[in-house]
Amino acid sequence: MKTLVLANQKGGVGKSALGTQLAYYLHAAGLRTLFVDLDHQQNSSKAILKSGRAVAPGYSSSEMLLNGKRDVPNANFVIVPGDDKLSSLEREPSTHNAIATNLHGFLAGVSSQFDVCLVDTNPNPDIRYASALITGNYVLSPIQLNQEAIDGIGSLLKHPRYGYFKIKEVLNPQLELIGIMPNMVENTPFQKGNFQQLAQAFAKLLIPMDDTGKSFAFVAKRSVIAEAQAEGAYIAEIKKTAARDAWRDIKPAFEVIARRMKLEV
Ligand SMILES: Nc1ncnc2c1ncn2[C@@H]1O[C@H](COP(=O)(O)OP(=O)(O)OP(=O)(O)O)[C@@H](O)[C@H]1O
Ligand SMILES: [Mg+2]
Repeated sequence: MKTLVLANQKGGVGKSALGTQLAYYLHAAGLRTLFVDLDHQQNSSKAILKSGRAVAPGYSSSEMLLNGKRDVPNANFVIVPGDDKLSSLEREPSTHNAIATNLHGFLAGVSSQFDVCLVDTNPNPDIRYASALITGNYVLSPIQLNQEAIDGIGSLLKHPRYGYFKIKEVLNPQLELIGIMPNMVENTPFQKGNFQQLAQAFAKLLIPMDDTGKSFAFVAKRSVIAEAQAEGAYIAEIKKTAARDAWRDIKPAFEVIARRMKLEV
């Protein structure tokens, strides 16, 4: 099982929306898919449960983190949903070692049951975020193309405690950054300029779509994406022109992400 962590300290950048749609895509491609929601906002849990596609075990993720639950239903798509309790874990430092150990043990324990696991995280790094990066294989970071978000890339990578480089160096050498994926991209001169600036400053962090060095994965801002999330729908299956147009853009990016994770889709 390959584990991908959706991570960005910045809120509202599309971690849950892209993670949810990526999970549907990987499951539809025939991969046994596990989704773990570590965010107390439970946005991805709500969408996935509403979709009716995934089966939930009889516990939520804080119970898995605190009590070391490991039994997972025998199904091709399973979600361990988030819960309110997740937000209080940071204030209980005596539980932190167990949380990191239990997440690692859980994922190791179910790894023969699934091909891929997606972990959705909360914004504002804490023990949940750190535990996910300590045990995951890959990181995908959706970002928005505004100056504040671009400035935040430094923290994503170099934060002294939770930065990708630090975690890779000290705690999880196998962690690989799939890349930074601009999301909610708008066809405005301002955003185009920001994308160019990003490509110049961080070309190696973006996800190349081909060998030209000029084309990078991104997802445009489209209302059908927010609608799909609210309805628990998989964009590829929505029979509307707007959804077809959106999927035509998103699918190639998801294919590249799957390839980078060495998944066969
Ligand atoms: N490309 C897009 N176009 C339009 N709406 C989008 C797009 N991507 C995400 N959204 C919507 O934007 C909102 C924020 O996205 P989402 O919840 O995925 O962000 P997040 O990074 O998970 O936020 P948080 O950090 O709070 O968990 C949601 O309503 C989502 O459906
Ligand atoms: Mg989210």
